[in-house]
Amino acid sequence: MSQANSIGYDAAEYSLVKTQAWRLWVEQYTLFWIFRTLGINFDGLRVGDFGSGTGLYSRMMIGYGAKGVLAIEGDRKMVTQAKQESAAYHGLITYQDSWIQDTTGIGDCQVALGSYLLSYPKSPEEVTSYCSAIASHIADAGVYVGFGNNTEERTGGHQYKPYGFTKVHSADTMGDCEGAWVDWHIDGLTNPIRNYNLYPDTYRRAFEDAGMQLFWQEALLHQSQTGNSDWDTFFEGEAPVTAMIATKGETPWNLSAWAM
Ligand SMILES: C[S@@+](CC[C@H](N)C(=O)[O-])C[C@H]1O[C@@H](n2cnc3c(N)ncnc32)[C@H](O)[C@@H]1O
Repeated sequence: MSQANSIGYDAAEYSLVKTQAWRLWVEQYTLFWIFRTLGINFDGLRVGDFGSGTGLYSRMMIGYGAKGVLAIEGDRKMVTQAKQESAAYHGLITYQDSWIQDTTGIGDCQVALGSYLLSYPKSPEEVTSYCSAIASHIADAGVYVGFGNNTEERTGGHQYKPYGFTKVHSADTMGDCEGAWVDWHIDGLTNPIRNYNLYPDTYRRAFEDAGMQLFWQEALLHQSQTGNSDWDTFFEGEAPVTAMIATKGETPWNLSAWAM
């Protein structure tokens, strides 16, 4: 057992803060742009949602046509809230109350999503254990699509107040930041969300050790918002969030947008 059964912020509150505009125009748009660009059509796929929280993306992937979701989440109250919110999905989503690094899969997820999952490991060793568990759930030729804290954004974090949150960095943001915490204070959430900074190369090595290849995708803005200067601060320098794609073996998905 890796840790207690609570992540430290409230599940019901968390569901409500997912309605902030940037979740829709940046987070959801970037994730589904990646799926579309890879050529993934969810129809009939068995998928994973790791660090599934209150199940927003589990439900969305069923909505897009997936035939079943394995949702893995370590916070017991998140799982309870997710089950309540997913009542109409009649068993299409299997919620497993575990921390991902304590699980070993059977390689039956053709696609897996991790929205903020890899913002939690605190060290190279921990991220390696997360990635090895992720890889165990993913089928050969499958893909993991992640979204989360941009560990390259270390400018201070108070500029994001107009979007409904601030990021507070633990200490020296110029020096060695591997393992440094960053707290997200989100309007409507009583307790902050604590994430940890790891270097992009640390993630790359962790996926490589797990037999997967990592590609990065910067956060994108939905076309409906193009030209709206309200978003300028969000995207100035490094955006506060970023996305990743990790493939297992030779995938049939179209990676040409991420060709190195
Ligand atoms: C910021 S929330 C995001 C929830 C959901 N993915 C979403 O985007 O709405 C992060 C979630 O990851 C869960 N989590 C953190 N570390 C985890 C781990 N090691 N294994 C499984 N879940 C984890 C937390 O409990 C929390 O519910």
